[in-house]
Amino acid sequence: MSESTSIVIFGASGDLTHRKLLPALFNLYRKKRIPENFLILGYATRAWDDKRFRAEMEAAATKYCSYDYSYDEWLEFAEHLYYMSGNFSSQDDFQTLANRLKQLESSPSDRMFYLATAPRFFLPIVKTLGQLGLVDEKEGKRRVVVEKPIGTDLASAQVLNKGISEVLQEHQIFRIDHYLGKESVQNLLVFRFANAIFEPVWNRNYIDHVQITVAEDIGVGHRAGYYDNVGALRDMFQNHLLQLVALVAMEPPANFDADAIRDEKIKVLRSSRSFSTEEVSQETVRGQYRGYRDASGVAPDSQTETFAALRLHIDNWRWQDVPFYLRSGKQLAEKCTEIAIKFKRPPIQMFPLPQDFKMAANVLGLCIQPHEGIHLKFEAKVPDTSAETRSVDMEFHYRDSFGETSIPEAYERLCLDVLQGDATLFTRAETAELSWSFIDSIIAAWHSPDGPPLTIYEPGSWGPEEAHDLLSRDDRRWIRSCGDHSDQVIDTLNK
Ligand code: BG6
Repeated sequence: MSESTSIVIFGASGDLTHRKLLPALFNLYRKKRIPENFLILGYATRAWDDKRFRAEMEAAATKYCSYDYSYDEWLEFAEHLYYMSGNFSSQDDFQTLANRLKQLESSPSDRMFYLATAPRFFLPIVKTLGQLGLVDEKEGKRRVVVEKPIGTDLASAQVLNKGISEVLQEHQIFRIDHYLGKESVQNLLVFRFANAIFEPVWNRNYIDHVQITVAEDIGVGHRAGYYDNVGALRDMFQNHLLQLVALVAMEPPANFDADAIRDEKIKVLRSSRSFSTEEVSQETVRGQYRGYRDASGVAPDSQTETFAALRLHIDNWRWQDVPFYLRSGKQLAEKCTEIAIKFKRPPIQMFPLPQDFKMAANVLGLCIQPHEGIHLKFEAKVPDTSAETRSVDMEFHYRDSFGETSIPEAYERLCLDVLQGDATLFTRAETAELSWSFIDSIIAAWHSPDGPPLTIYEPGSWGPEEAHDLLSRDDRRWIRSCGDHSDQVIDTLNK
């Protein structure tokens, strides 16, 4: 990292800056992870000045920083904050931006441009930066962070990726998927590849199936207008869920290098079986919570899914015939993200138990949030019986092993990685495009007459009954493998 750094946030008056970027950058500053000689220049259309920006950010820090800090720390940090208003595609405004940066920087600095704007501005900003030579790397590193979504389908993602790559080289582009910055998601690689005992059983010989649940208890709130054009598949599956699949399913990379890891993830996406239109109604479920259409900004007859579930197959040697069941939705019973690896049952039943007794299978729960950790459920003998067995749970929790405050916000990790030029946790263009081609085929089928119906589910439930059927057809059920419910089988109907 260079001695001095300038961070330009396009869209600095928006939600993302208030909620995520400012708290992340402030904490990096407190931990002395960013060069002492740094500045943050907020850029947006609103006619604010430095003073107003600092006041806004101070209010944001009070509201959104999850850590304790002193007011003196804030005052020191705030001295590095600046603001200018401008248009996102005006060469004149960008020239003023360039002049302002030169005037504020005391020496040649690395620069990070963060696109925290609405997606329609991504390309105009990158092109204007290019036209003014602001991303030439003659006087320091020039890195551009692109927020999600990378397009709304394969075609638009290709246009965006192509447009960006005409201006920037791949090493300058950082496409964010904030799930990859979560500590418990980063731990998936460590768990799998820094331990010798899991990898030998991490395959079709021992694993019966995998479940990934990304559940939210909140609805769409003030994002309803945006969300109604997007839906759960685009909002959550195309990026976060498929990234989790890739991390669980990938082969060991040759080393811990950004490209080696991303190469392996891409192979998983390439091996993911896409659905024919007929298969989509068998393999996918779409739901909408009751009351969604009443939200302001949502069409009264909206067909947008706020819940989706699907059965994914990965056609390779490791995973053939091991289904990956994925589900995600809003207004569900609780907020939790977890991955359950369900193992096969023992091959024979040698204990003196009833004939039709089915020994429970081992379940490994990779708990992404909110109780970050790992659970392993296995069978134990019930004391004082001859051979009665019961499932017990072995647990690891970050808060117990590393302390309550050990887990930084995903954006903190990601911003630091951009400053250091480490792209491991960022998505490549090809990854985004492969994910879109998988998701596009489902969306196209959903819009065809043969697609599955949109079913309404009750807020506070675990989604529509059809999501339950998706597994029960295979004689399986959704399970909770983390939290206080790790021994429960959860019915989608919340019965
Ligand atoms: C975002 C989606 O990418 O992820 C939101 O756009 C969703 O709709 C959010 O609420 C969930 O993130 P997290 O970190 O709270 O699980």
